[in-house]
Amino acid sequence: MTIWHPPELNPEQPKYKALADAMATAIAAGELQPGQKLPTHRHLADRLGVTVGTVTRAYAEAEKRQLIESRVGSGTYVRSYNSTEFAIGEPLPEEIVDLSYSIALNVDQAGQLAEDLASLSGNRPLLKQLLNYQTPGGLLRHREAGLQWLQMTGIDSGDLERLLITNGGQHGFHTATAALCRAGDTVLSAGLTYPGFSLVAQQMGLRHIGIESDSDGVIPEALNTACLRFKPRLIYLNTRVNNPSCEQTSAERIDQLAEILQRHQVWVVEDDVQGCLLDASQPSFANRHPEITLFVSGTSKALTGGLRVGYLLPPKPLLRAAASAIRSSCWMTAPLMVEIASRWITSGVASRFIIEQQRQLTQRHALVRQVLTGLDLHSVDYGLNVWLLLPEPRRGQEFCQSLERQKVMAKPSAAFAAGHFNALQAIRFCVGGDTSLPALEKALHIIQGELQQPGPEFDIAH
Ligand SMILES: Cc1ncc(COP(=O)(O)O)c(C=O)c1O
Repeated sequence: MTIWHPPELNPEQPKYKALADAMATAIAAGELQPGQKLPTHRHLADRLGVTVGTVTRAYAEAEKRQLIESRVGSGTYVRSYNSTEFAIGEPLPEEIVDLSYSIALNVDQAGQLAEDLASLSGNRPLLKQLLNYQTPGGLLRHREAGLQWLQMTGIDSGDLERLLITNGGQHGFHTATAALCRAGDTVLSAGLTYPGFSLVAQQMGLRHIGIESDSDGVIPEALNTACLRFKPRLIYLNTRVNNPSCEQTSAERIDQLAEILQRHQVWVVEDDVQGCLLDASQPSFANRHPEITLFVSGTSKALTGGLRVGYLLPPKPLLRAAASAIRSSCWMTAPLMVEIASRWITSGVASRFIIEQQRQLTQRHALVRQVLTGLDLHSVDYGLNVWLLLPEPRRGQEFCQSLERQKVMAKPSAAFAAGHFNALQAIRFCVGGDTSLPALEKALHIIQGELQQPGPEFDIAH
């Protein structure tokens, strides 16, 4: 086996970051192969003339980016391509139960799409219109359907003038962030947050700081301290249900946070892609403080991910910047997909899908509570995710690796850590997607069985 020799590190970066970047480059170039063992911390430190601590930090950074994985007692390896990171959307071997992605339940969306495509195929003038360029915000009737979507999911503060159509929720908060930030700015989020936002921050060259939360969401005192210290431009929040940890923020807490944010002139990017499947009366920044909120919704969780249709509701003074960010990234959304989503919304199909998912999710959460009884579980009625805090001495990463060996996929808490946030040891698993009820039950028993194991013995560090 050849030992990887890293190139000279970029002197303009902190050393640990430069080393993590060098690993990413080597993996992308095929110099480091999936499954290849990496040198020990000591070996690499001696070779590069840096401290062992720097290498440890670099490995932790690379692990957070899901480039490498450490196997207790064995060493550190380049992640294998057969991990779920690369399997999403591809058919998986039947015996694998993949609970690692947060995906809408199958309620025969494909059957509905087939009906709509058949009906559309007979309407040439409409097809012609859908094949044309549109303004970046989208066609008027598509925006009207978007407004109906927001109202249906409990957002009553929107108006047509401010509503923009996006290519899904990820594109929605990417657009909002691009409209507000320039490289070098600081952005905040809950310490445990949706990794899609961490990716945006990383790609735009933003400093990303994770804030401590309690069971009601981000803690006001911690937010105030971070605002004073870092002068952030925005905070990204999943107010109605946090992905991954499932907290829901009360109206009182929203008001407390809003007061602090207004005082420090910090915008809120409120991502409701998961929240819109829930009880519509759940409070939001969009309804209570629309003047500081860029609200992001999407149809991926409540309807289905492949539609790629979402909605962005910025405050009026930011409308032009947001529209311009859409134009610069993709000009406009694909009108055919927005037509499908709009039909589902205006015809009642979307409500039907949401109600059916809520019914099935209630049943699934009851099953989770029954099989994993007495454990530190966090979930919300109608939510897609379950957050399971692990007992000592279990660690998220090794726990997920043990599950993977038993053909169950889940995500460790480290995958959700913002910046250098010190994540609790936990796993997130999804009870939706294409997983059948018997397959879910089987996976839950495997999780339960794994929790009975003593866990790994940790190496004594030398
Ligand atoms: C909180 C959150 N926001 C955004 C997304 C991505 O949404 P979309 O598929 O609409 O881009 C996800 C997907 O899991 C999510 O959980």
